[in-house]
Amino acid sequence: VLTLEEDAAAIFRGERLEDPWPIWDRLREEAPVLAVGPMWVVTRFEDAKTLIFDRDRYSQRLWVGGSRAEAMLAGFTPEGREIWHKLTDLEKNMMSRTDIEEHDRLRGIAHRYFMPRRIRELESVMQGFVDDLLTEAEASQGVYDFKRFSQDLPLRVMSHIIGSPQVDRHYILEATNRIGRAAGTDREDYVRDAYEARLAFNRYIDEVILDEHRRNPGSNELVATLMDSEADERMSPLEVTMMISVLLFGGIETTSVLLSNGLLELLRNRRQWELLCEDPSRAGAAVDELLRWVSPAQWVPRTTKTASEVGGVEIPAGQTVMAAVSAANRDPREFADAGMLDILAGARPHLALGFGAKFCLGSSILRTEARIALRSLAERYPDIELAADPEDLDWSVSNPLLRTMAELPVSLTPA
Ligand code: HEM
Repeated sequence: VLTLEEDAAAIFRGERLEDPWPIWDRLREEAPVLAVGPMWVVTRFEDAKTLIFDRDRYSQRLWVGGSRAEAMLAGFTPEGREIWHKLTDLEKNMMSRTDIEEHDRLRGIAHRYFMPRRIRELESVMQGFVDDLLTEAEASQGVYDFKRFSQDLPLRVMSHIIGSPQVDRHYILEATNRIGRAAGTDREDYVRDAYEARLAFNRYIDEVILDEHRRNPGSNELVATLMDSEADERMSPLEVTMMISVLLFGGIETTSVLLSNGLLELLRNRRQWELLCEDPSRAGAAVDELLRWVSPAQWVPRTTKTASEVGGVEIPAGQTVMAAVSAANRDPREFADAGMLDILAGARPHLALGFGAKFCLGSSILRTEARIALRSLAERYPDIELAADPEDLDWSVSNPLLRTMAELPVSLTPA
């Protein structure tokens, strides 16, 4: 029999991804603040919210010296350690990895792009992408792997926002996956590979995306905003590159997980799918409930700046602490019927997109995108069915942070 700590460690290694929920439930009820190897896992809603919110006590930046990274580096060769430090030297220029003043400066620049007017303009672009992808899917006539839709839609949307050529979508997906998997790993080979991919990706951003702006300054508003800030010395050149990078990282795989895992959940809980088809304008509410239910980013990492008490447990300074959003979003202390997917439940403010100063910058992008996708699916294919037994889906290949299946076969059976 495995201990709770071993069960939790397995999730973080990516081993229980087909069904982590019983483990999350037990952690939340029996050991809500638990040391798991070199880190701490926090599973109740209130505690997770405090961790995510309180920037004075919990840092994003300090992950470089946090207990989890230290334990990982202890197992590396000297050369592997050096590569890890070079990688983190680049990545600490990424907004999501910065703290208070630095963070607010970078966020203040980027957030001007994400205005409601812009999201409204993007709606028709998104609808066009959804329609094209569904028409392609329909052409497959038979079993369609919905993962393709779920990855292609956010890739197209983010490529459009960033102004990278649509033909480079697959390069971008591969690069973000290679770099992304190093964030939660103990494996030196992944870190070495991520560093190589990072150097190449930063060159790509400079030579393709930024160069397009240099030749044709009016071509993309987001890049223009960033380059103006660089010209005024409010951002360094590396910060500009890393901002583009974090938008691609934050915007693609997360949204893909919401779409694919979300569709699986609706089809498994068929009544929920029917409720959506009866009135497709429920798609917006469904997206919000699916964010809570799926929690595409399973946890949000922080490092304690000083010794600090979380949920009654004293945690020393410099410790990696994971706010387990997956567990918190099903906490019965916070939500009535927390253990049920219910798209008609009304607003249930959750932590799937974070909380406070670092709240997801792309929240209106992903909400709009997912709403259009679900609505179009419900309108066009109310009879859609899973074409595999959910028990047979393969969850083992995903990045544990972003748990998802390798393939999601469906038959669309047009109405
Ligand atoms: C379902 C899709 C998404 C999920 C689940 C998600 C989740 C999150 C979460 C949990 C955070 C907070 C991290 C923290 O507190 O440390 C965050 C931040 C962020 N997200 Fe998202 N996100 C999604 C989509 C997007 C999209 C589409 C974009 C870009 C357009 C984006 C860009 C960002 C950025 C740049 C940050 C960092 C904000 C900051 O440091 O101030 N995300 N996201």
